[in-house]
Amino acid sequence: MLVPEPIEITESAVQQAVEAALAAVDAAADTAELKAARTAHAGEHSTLARLNASLREVPADRKAALGKLVGQARGRVSQAFAVREAALAEAENARRLAEEALDVTEVALPGRPGARHPLSLLQESIADVFVGMGWEVAEGPELESEWFNFDALNFDADHPARAMQDTFFVEPPEAHLVLRTHTSPVQVRALLERTPPVYVVAPGRVYRTDELDATHLPVFSQVEGIAVDRGLTMAHLRGTLEHFARAMFGEGARIRLRPNYFPFTEPSAEMDVWHPGAKGGPRWIEWGGCGMVNRNVLRSAGIDPDEYTGFAFGMGIERTLQFRYNLGDMRDFLEGDVRFSQQFGMVV
Ligand code: FA5
Ligand code: MG
Repeated sequence: MLVPEPIEITESAVQQAVEAALAAVDAAADTAELKAARTAHAGEHSTLARLNASLREVPADRKAALGKLVGQARGRVSQAFAVREAALAEAENARRLAEEALDVTEVALPGRPGARHPLSLLQESIADVFVGMGWEVAEGPELESEWFNFDALNFDADHPARAMQDTFFVEPPEAHLVLRTHTSPVQVRALLERTPPVYVVAPGRVYRTDELDATHLPVFSQVEGIAVDRGLTMAHLRGTLEHFARAMFGEGARIRLRPNYFPFTEPSAEMDVWHPGAKGGPRWIEWGGCGMVNRNVLRSAGIDPDEYTGFAFGMGIERTLQFRYNLGDMRDFLEGDVRFSQQFGMVV
């Protein structure tokens, strides 16, 4: 073990050691520097420690006086370290508190909560209009069997009407699945699951190989309606559609029915809505198809057409949005630009 050389204890040696220690205490800028200074000036290898150890060598008659000298010096230095340490720790604490301070009164920057797509919102408010009249809301699959999409709706196997709606057929062909071309298959599903009276609306997505333009999308949505009860006539159909149109486009909504053909309704009609904001000028635009449910459709759902009659309709939801807000081009609905959605409100 290395025993430090004894140093001669003199007043000036003690004085120098104290002054050096006090200068180091003053110079320490933070608690880490102070700790290093303490090791150097008050640690076991420091001059003061060595002076203290040297007391052992001092003759007995001088021990008391020199012991007091060294003891007081060490006391002063350790006191100076303690005072400085408390001051530095307090300053560091105050600085950290200032740095980490949170102003709880600061006004929060508004986050962007996003917006639901106007089509989803509209689909819900359409359902609400019918729920308000006591109708039920139903759903059907988008991947649909050919039988529900065509056969049960009175499309003959080879009837050219099958090509009326350009169909996405799904492989393998023997599975006889299609992406549904309209929501009308839900008519048959709804009738098979219930006994009349039946009042059902079914909003949902449909698919066609249509070219994208201002009023056509290859993936769009429709809302189907089917009512089957005793004594229903075309007048009930017209009244229901007028109520629906006024709920969508306001009291002044203008609609008209034109004779048309659908295999699953007889008679059939197309319903147009006046669109003042149409590209190329104000005009009537087709909103949907409708008619009295064909007797063959009632039969394929096990309902006696002599006892019950029904009406059905299918409207385009994108067209509804387009006419309701006077939008020129349906392709804007697809961009996914949140600024488009935000115009319709931030309802989440
Ligand atoms: C039908 O789909 C029939 N199922 C409607 C129906 C239901 C008739 C019940 C009778 C009884 P249509 O193919 O005309 O009919 O389409 C109905 C509506 O869907 C159109 O009037 C239009 O509003 C909308 N639509 C059709 N094709 C597109 C498309 N490519 N993009 C956007 N909307 C479309
Ligand atoms: Mg049509």
